Amino acid sequence: MAGRFIVVDGVDGAGKSTQIERLSAALTARGERVHVTCEPSGWPIGQLIRRYLRGDLKDGVPGWSSMALLFAADRMQHVEHEIEPHLAAGEVVLCDRYDASSIAYQSAIAPDGADRDALMRWIATVNEPARRPDLVLLLDLDPNVAAARRSQRGGEAELYEKLDLQRRIRAQYEKLGALRPNDRIVRIDASRSIDLIHEEILAVTTEALGLNR
Ligand SMILES: Nc1ncnc2c1ncn2[C@@H]1O[C@H](COP(=O)(O)OP(=O)(O)OP(=O)(O)O)[C@@H](O)[C@H]1O
Ligand SMILES: [Mg+2]
Repeated sequence: MAGRFIVVDGVDGAGKSTQIERLSAALTARGERVHVTCEPSGWPIGQLIRRYLRGDLKDGVPGWSSMALLFAADRMQHVEHEIEPHLAAGEVVLCDRYDASSIAYQSAIAPDGADRDALMRWIATVNEPARRPDLVLLLDLDPNVAAARRSQRGGEAELYEKLDLQRRIRAQYEKLGALRPNDRIVRIDASRSIDLIHEEILAVTTEALGLNR
């Protein structure tokens, strides 16, 4: 049987990694073979993007448009060499961020005065060749709460982690449904406890994908 492709997306610190770990364990316990991956990917273009996000590479830091194209290129490579082969093997692929992140982040970092809705449409078009997910779980969280969670977690701040920017990114995520009407996008209230969010995500996933049959 063909595999299932599930994306978990949302602002920095919304709980994506936490929930993917829980979902992966729960699906594995139900007998599914699960492959967990993320974007930027571990492939060469993804590694380049990570160096820019961490600030390790300061030479020619890409602006919103070249970053959008780098992310799209990483995505196509990731799909071709990792996501599709695992799906073809019948596995459930859980991906931490996908084109929803590109659409929300790169349109949000464009300069003031930009037509962000037009930019979202352009980024969506650029990403059209990338395989569509079977389910997108959008973890929605107030950026203030997300920032507090990130500071508790520790670690270095990355390129896009400023509060006003995170607010704009959240607003862009809210418009995704209209932009991708054929995708199954489910908004998850990520302000609750890890256990409650996990229960809802597991219920939505098993129901939407018929995984528990
Ligand atoms: N529902 C929750 N309630 C309280 N704290 C949480 C919740 N979910 C995750 N956390 C904590 O918040 C921090 C951020 O969570 P996590 O790393 O899973 O977010 P993320 O979306 O993967 O972040 P990033 O975008 O930076 O990768 C972690 O310390 C995690 O333990
Ligand atoms: Mg994470």
